[in-house]
Amino acid sequence: MNPTFKEAFTIKGLAGEHKLQGTIGIHGAKNAALKALAAAVLFDGPVTLDNIPDTNDVGLMIDILSKLGAKVTKQSVHTIVIDPSSISHTAIDTELAQNMRSSVVLTGPLLARFGNVTFPAPGGCVIGTRPIDLFIEGYKKMGAVVDLIDDRTYSISAPTGIQSTELFFNIQSVGGTETLMMAAVLGKGKTVLKNCAMEPEIVNVAEWLNAAGAHITGAGTTTIEIEGTGGKLLNSKQSYTAIPDRIEAGSFLILGALCAKSLTIKNCQPKHVESVINVLRDSGVEMDIGVDTITVRGGKKIKPFNIRTHEYPGFPTDLQAPIVTYLTQVEGESMIFETIFEGRFKYAEDLSKMGAHITIMNPREILIKGPTPLVQLPEMDELRAHDIRAGFAIVLAALVGTGSFKVHNVHLIDRGYEKLEEQLTALGAEVKRIPV
Ligand code: EPU
Repeated sequence: MNPTFKEAFTIKGLAGEHKLQGTIGIHGAKNAALKALAAAVLFDGPVTLDNIPDTNDVGLMIDILSKLGAKVTKQSVHTIVIDPSSISHTAIDTELAQNMRSSVVLTGPLLARFGNVTFPAPGGCVIGTRPIDLFIEGYKKMGAVVDLIDDRTYSISAPTGIQSTELFFNIQSVGGTETLMMAAVLGKGKTVLKNCAMEPEIVNVAEWLNAAGAHITGAGTTTIEIEGTGGKLLNSKQSYTAIPDRIEAGSFLILGALCAKSLTIKNCQPKHVESVINVLRDSGVEMDIGVDTITVRGGKKIKPFNIRTHEYPGFPTDLQAPIVTYLTQVEGESMIFETIFEGRFKYAEDLSKMGAHITIMNPREILIKGPTPLVQLPEMDELRAHDIRAGFAIVLAALVGTGSFKVHNVHLIDRGYEKLEEQLTALGAEVKRIPV
């Protein structure tokens, strides 16, 4: 998997008109698929994973698994078979892991199955400090020995297996919850995890693991209990299907409210984006909600609103940047309080260059005064994606803007959105992927 770094999007702005129209289908959830790929290590043979989005991060996780010796077969664009039986070592590749924070999730299943793992402090999106202390402390509580081999490489071993324990997460962490849950699946006795994250992706993976022989209760609540199998591997006949990507759905909901006459989002789970539906609806956006569809009609007069990002089921941090782009077009003042990650406002500078009135009050709060037209920049002053979601926010800004725009660093958008330009083109947007 080799992301193409030298690509940009060219986007013709709609000058604020609500012109886009049509239907788009939501892909499988990247943040569930990545964890399922890691969890495949716990299985007794080749296991099939379905509805896996074809994004760069999924490609990276496949590369990391392959480097460990797992046999990975792509049966079709969205179906992957992983055979963990051939894993020959447990040292996660440094270079690959540096590019993706969720590589750290693999440490749980590797430790559970092989009793040891070596991994570099992970990299990933540039969205502030993202420590791994919860993982390290969790492993210690589970009876593992953690060594820092050099400044950046951890070696963890649990030669007698993961021991039963009870632990409380000081911060609700999606990756921490998933990783320690997976580590405990093959362990001895009962593990109780408290103050867990409740994201639907955790439930999706836990339900699959249970169907394959794991004993997990409480996923989707703040207390998860895992009765370890005592080393018995999970049944590879049980395939996995990723739930629809709620962040992709939420992104398109915001896009629809901003740029579409009428946009139907299909193959989604509306209840997973209730926080987004709620703020948009309260502010005046018209929507029809079906069982697995949402139709959004833009063009109405919208009231400004304030948001605090929150763990699920609150307003997701991953939609903070897109909603700020949206609020630049709404009359009045809106405030956003980013509670999950510090320093996730890098994209705001680009929006300001385009004409937005945005004040970063502090690393967590941002004030938006709208509406302001967003305009084409001088040739030398081009836009770029800072991370996956900030990238989507900039694409959104270009779409609503006046003029022609070039957005660089498309490989970062590709980490989380599958062929975004094709989805947008199908709705009537003029978006092209070009080499630069
Ligand atoms: N945290 C710690 N110590 C740890 C782990 C986390 O302090 O050991 C802190 C983080 O710094 C952050 C908070 O806990 O302030 C919550 O982070 P969390 O661990 O929940 O985030 P994550 O698991 O690393 C996942 C998603 C992110 C999403 C966050 C929050 C995946 C692969 N990534 O990250 O998604 O923003 O949860 O919902 O599941 C994206 O898709 O673009 C993306 C960044």
